[in-house]
Parts: sequence; C-alpha cells; structure tokens
Amino acid sequence: MSQRSCLSVILAAGEGTRMKSAMPKVLHAIAGLPMVAHVVKAAEAAGATGLALVIGHGADEMRKAAQKFAPKAETFVQEKRLGTAHAVLAAREAISKGYDDILVMFGDTPLIDAQALAAARQKLAEGAAVVVIGFRTPNPTGYGRLIERRGKLVAIIEEKDCSEDEKKITFCNAGMMAIAGDQALQLLEKVGNDNAKGEFYLTDIVEIAGAQGLSVVATEASFENALGINNRAELAEAERVWQARRRREAMLAGVTLIAPETVYFSHDTEIGADTIVEPNVWFGPGVRIASAAKIHAFSHIEGATIASNCDVGPFARLRPGADLRNKAKVGNFCEVKQATIEEGAKVNHLTYIGDARVGAAANIGAGTITCNYDGYSKFFTDIGEGAFVGSNSSLVAPVTIGKGGYIASGSVITESVPDDALAFGRARQKTIPGKGKELRERFASAAAAKKKAAE
Ligand code: UD1
Ligand code: CA
Repeated sequence: MSQRSCLSVILAAGEGTRMKSAMPKVLHAIAGLPMVAHVVKAAEAAGATGLALVIGHGADEMRKAAQKFAPKAETFVQEKRLGTAHAVLAAREAISKGYDDILVMFGDTPLIDAQALAAARQKLAEGAAVVVIGFRTPNPTGYGRLIERRGKLVAIIEEKDCSEDEKKITFCNAGMMAIAGDQALQLLEKVGNDNAKGEFYLTDIVEIAGAQGLSVVATEASFENALGINNRAELAEAERVWQARRRREAMLAGVTLIAPETVYFSHDTEIGADTIVEPNVWFGPGVRIASAAKIHAFSHIEGATIASNCDVGPFARLRPGADLRNKAKVGNFCEVKQATIEEGAKVNHLTYIGDARVGAAANIGAGTITCNYDGYSKFFTDIGEGAFVGSNSSLVAPVTIGKGGYIASGSVITESVPDDALAFGRARQKTIPGKGKELRERFASAAAAKKKAAE
C-alpha cells in the first residue's frame, strides 16, 4: 500500500458559529495545536502525500495559519457552503492530478487516528471504490446512518432524511471516507441535492457507486474518531480525550504519572523513560525531557529542554529557552527563562534566572535575581562553574561571575567578579550595643504621649 499515492482533502469551510469566536473554528487548539493541524498530522501519518484544504469562512486567516502547520497544502475556497460533496469538488484540481487514493476528512474532527485512515486505505488497495469509516454508538442522533445489506454498505441516510426505523440504527458515519482516485470525480459529480437539507451530500456517493457495481464497504473505528467539534464544550471534550490518549502513551513508554489525569501535555511534548511526573504539571509547547528526570508537583514548563536526571519543582516555572543539563536542579518557586543550567548546578529556591548561564555545579542561593532588563534591552549574566551566589543577591546584567566566584548574600553585583574572588555588594554591618533597647523605649514613650494628647 505504501507505494500508492494519496491525497487528503480536508473540509474546513464551515463557519463554526457555535464557537462564538472571531477565529475560524478549526483553528481552535487541542493540546496547543489547531484542530485542523491534528487532522493534517493524522493524514500524513496515514501516508497522504498531497494535502488539499477546502476553506471558506476566514480564508485569509486560514491560509496564513496553514503555512505553519501544513506548508505544502494547497488551499481551495468553497465560495458557497452547499454541502460536503460540493466542498470536496472545490478541490477538483488537486483530485484530478491522478492520486491512487483520496481521503476525505473534516477539519473539525480532530481525533481521527491514522490507523483508522490506514485501514480504510487498505480496503481501497484490496479493490474497494468507496470506504466509509463508521462507528457504533448507543446515541446516534445527528449522525448519518449506515445501511448495510448482506455485508455490503448500500447507503448512508442523514438523520434528517431517516425514517423512524432507520433512526434506530446505531452504526453511524464518522464522516471520513476513502475513495478510489480514478472514480472520485465521476462519483462526486453525480451527487444531487434532493434531500431534506437541500445540500450536496458526500454520503450519496455510496448509493451511486453501488448502482455502478463498484465495491463499497464500511470499516469500524472508535467513537472518538467521529467526535466533531461545534462548540467549546465539545472542544474541551476533545482535549480530554486527546490528553487521556497521550498520558496512556507516555505511561506505556515508561513515564510514571502519579496522577495522570492532572498532567497536561502539549502536542509536541517529548518525554523519556523513567521520568517521574508528579500531580498537576503543565507542559506547554516545545518541551523535551530526556530520561529519568523528576518533575515535581505544580510545575509549569514550556519551551524547555531537560536532560537526564534533572530535578524540577515543585512549583517551578521553566520558560522558553530554559536548558537544563544533566542532573541540574531547579527547585520551588524558581523561574528560568532563556538560560542554561549546566550539569549538576542548583537553583533551589525563590529565584529568577533569565538570559543567563549557570555553570556546572554552581549553587545559586535562595532569592537570587538576575536583573536582565533595564526597561529597554535584555542583558546576559554569566555564572562560572562552581560559583556560589549567596542568598538574596541581585546580579545586574551584563555581568560575569568567574569560576568558583563567591558572592556574599544580599549583594547587588554590578561589576564582574574574577575567578575564585569573593565579592560583597552590600553595606557592612554595624552593631551598637544597647541601642535597640534605647530605641524601643523612645518609640514607646512617643506613642504614649500621642495617645494622651488625643484623650
Ligand atoms: C456529516 C455526514 C454525516 C456524519 C457526520 C459525522 C454528510 C452529508 N454527512 O454530517 O453522515 O454522520 O458528518 O460528523 O457528509 N463542510 C464544508 N462545506 C460544506 C459543508 C460542510 O466545508 O459545504 C465541512 C464542515 O465545515 C465540516 C464538515 O464539512 O467540517 C462536515 O460538515 P457538517 O455540515 O458538519 O456535516 P454533518 O451534518 O455533521
Ligand atoms: Ca458535523
């Protein structure tokens, strides 16, 4: 089958009014990726070599977005929304290029999995002309029903056109179809719009192909494959299903999730075996974790690279460009942005490290802040290997702390510190015996005098 060429036609011309959004429906994200991009990924994973995106509502925004998630896709505008068959025909130019297989998919049905598509393509390879992806549900309302006779799919009847008996059928059309490339155009062109909605239904090609003696079959996929998104409640439902799939995949790949339902992955999270993720962790886009890291509870991580055996959190925030090398440690209430924490370095408590390098085995004390921004520009802080930064220090960038440099706590460091030097950047302590008591007495009598005057 792998030699067969395949065009995926993705229908995404719908307005999506029920999203109540200024943004086209299919650009709403699941796991941080537009839902239509999930559809594209599934098509590619099922071997689609060509991509045709049928757009309508918000065409400019769609084209712009498509450049990111499907730069090779051709876009076709369906001017009037006259039904799914009409929408597929908007991509006539692409279809007529002579692909072996055509996969019709919906931009608002993001949980379609590549296996279901590959299974449908397999049926084409075995000689079917039309393959419908079906699913079973106890609650079929709203879906087209699959009418089978003697193991053959003979028709799909839309809910609105169903008789009472047909409404009881629970085998439904997920919407996606695989069509033999050499039959697709002639079948689509024969579709009419004489039905309850007055639309050109893609589903009619089942009967049309049957009447021509072509082989038409249904495959069965899980309900999730058919989950169409029309409003934000359904969007959240799709997110839930996606996250559940991804968590399971991570666990089966050797990642421990103590409370899986509280960990949120991004579409591109990479996470290696023997990593332990505690409850309530959020992964934004662009996170790569090697093996055997510990991500403690309530950490928020995006755009970060975490090497093996690192220890992160609890309550750590790793922002884009955070690069933790082997055995680095970023502890509670620390924020790291655009900074490398080299091997074995420790940033344990209440610290901000931004635009910086923390050298191997350096120790950054609680409350250290790299002052990287003057309100206009960002500056770099370079902390050498084995340096020790005492608690509550401010490192005013640009500044360098040499290897083995030692910063007294409470320092404001504005000048670079050479290797192995000790730097104090604070006023010296002065201790005056008895002065504390004297002050307390003075303040107490002043307060008493004030109270008396007010009586
Ligand atoms: C469709 C199927 C139905 C199936 C259901 C599964 C048809 C006729 N019906 O119904 O059997 O059970 O999906 O969810 O195919 N679109 C366009 N242009 C159009 C019409 C639709 O781009 O002119 C796009 C929509 O944006 C959407 C997709 O095609 O992404 C499906 O269209 P929709 O109207 O939602 O079809 P359903 O009524 O759900
Ligand atoms: Ca729909």
